[in-house]
Amino acid sequence: MNLLGSLFSSSIGRKFLMAATGLVLFGFVTGHLVGNLQIFLPPEKINHYGHLLESLGSALWAIRAFLLVCVVIHIWLAIQLTLENRAARPAAYAAEKTMRATLASRVMARTGIVVLAFIIYHLLHFTIRAQHPEWSEHTYRLADGTMVRDVYRMVVEGFSSVGVSVFYIVAVGLLAYHLAHGISSMFQTFGLKNENWTRGLDTTAKIYCWAYFLLNALIPLSVLGYVPVLSGLIQR
Ligand code: HEM
Repeated sequence: MNLLGSLFSSSIGRKFLMAATGLVLFGFVTGHLVGNLQIFLPPEKINHYGHLLESLGSALWAIRAFLLVCVVIHIWLAIQLTLENRAARPAAYAAEKTMRATLASRVMARTGIVVLAFIIYHLLHFTIRAQHPEWSEHTYRLADGTMVRDVYRMVVEGFSSVGVSVFYIVAVGLLAYHLAHGISSMFQTFGLKNENWTRGLDTTAKIYCWAYFLLNALIPLSVLGYVPVLSGLIQR
């Protein structure tokens, strides 16, 4: 059997793939947040950045395809692992350890489903622009004269709706919660957890997830005018 086959067929291999695809997706959401924080800079910055990404052409499509494969593998293995855990679960919840593990995995499955629903909504909202086809027509002239799509205006208009903003904030909150558990189990799978490191790693993961949530939430909250200094940076 080849390496890929044995990764998918053994329990440890599946856990490893789950952690590896999780790591890739973690890298994406972190990079995406850093890119999005450019909304607090003049519109030139994020529009130039959006244009740079679009001009990657087929390389961008290759990255998108790779991310999609990671999402599919991550979800597929999550379903398999959940079913396996359920099948192996003793009838009575005698041991506290079992109960805790079950609760953690249940939380992961539920937050994972909401995050998936959010991604589908987000793609329809900002990438396909299904509800606002006019966002595809809004253009911006960069300092060098290049006309590009006005991503800045799209984000500001998108978050001007309180309902949409609340949905984003709740979704990134659940994503941050999902990441907190995910990062911790990823360290476990990669064998990085030991008596000396476990507390430090879990604390770092928690701090990261809080920062991830708050920084993401600041974007819609600032557009809506709720963050004194940052709201003043948003140009309308
Ligand atoms: C406040 C938070 C967020 C903002 C402001 C934001 C903004 C954006 C923007 C402007 C785009 C590009 C649309 C385009 O012009 O084509 C985009 C694409 C995307 N976002 Fe977000 N996003 C946010 C949160 C998230 C989160 C939490 C996730 C993942 C769970 C995510 C996943 C994606 C994906 C997968 C794409 C498509 C990338 C591509 O076209 O290749 N976003 N987002």
